[in-house]
Amino acid sequence: MHRSGIFAALALSAAVATPVVAQLDVEEQIETRQSAFTFASWNMGKIKAQAVDGTVAYNEQQMLAAANAIASVANSGLGSLFGPGTAMDKNDNTRLKPEFFDKPDKAREVAIGFAQAANKLQEIAANGGSKADLAAQFSEVGKSCKACHDEFRAE
Ligand code: HEC
Repeated sequence: MHRSGIFAALALSAAVATPVVAQLDVEEQIETRQSAFTFASWNMGKIKAQAVDGTVAYNEQQMLAAANAIASVANSGLGSLFGPGTAMDKNDNTRLKPEFFDKPDKAREVAIGFAQAANKLQEIAANGGSKADLAAQFSEVGKSCKACHDEFRAE
């Protein structure tokens, strides 16, 4: 993986997050991360439809755009949207488990997993990878989403 990916992934961990803009308040952090994940999910849906299910005609340019979008989310420094006080023990409008703040190593691990998988997806799409390769890596990205959800997102 690219070095930049590692650093971006590390930045997702609350323990090492450094603010890149004036810190958003708790409400804004929650809303923004939910939007980011919803946006990533929308783009995952495009790849699923075209490369996996075949319910929509396969279009390489659209697959690249979707992969770029997912990688952008993964590399955007999401960690600054997981600030102190943003878990569900203190807020009604989030599903972030409070354990997130007790397990910085696990948080770093799943963040790195997401960034690595998303960067590879982008690489495959950018280099004219086959539909089968894209579908296979889509599945790896999906696993990286799930790894974090299983650990840190409440039902
Ligand atoms: C590092 C952990 C992590 C990774 C990686 C991750 N998620 Fe999530 N996701 C969460 C957490 C935590 C929430 C709950 C956020 C909240 O409610 O504040 C969430 C929420 C969501 C939501 C609901 C958003 C909403 O409006 O409530 C969707 C959809 C979602 N994730 C999809 C994805 C997809 C698709 C991926 C992979 C491409 C992904 N997530 C990767 C942790 C993660």
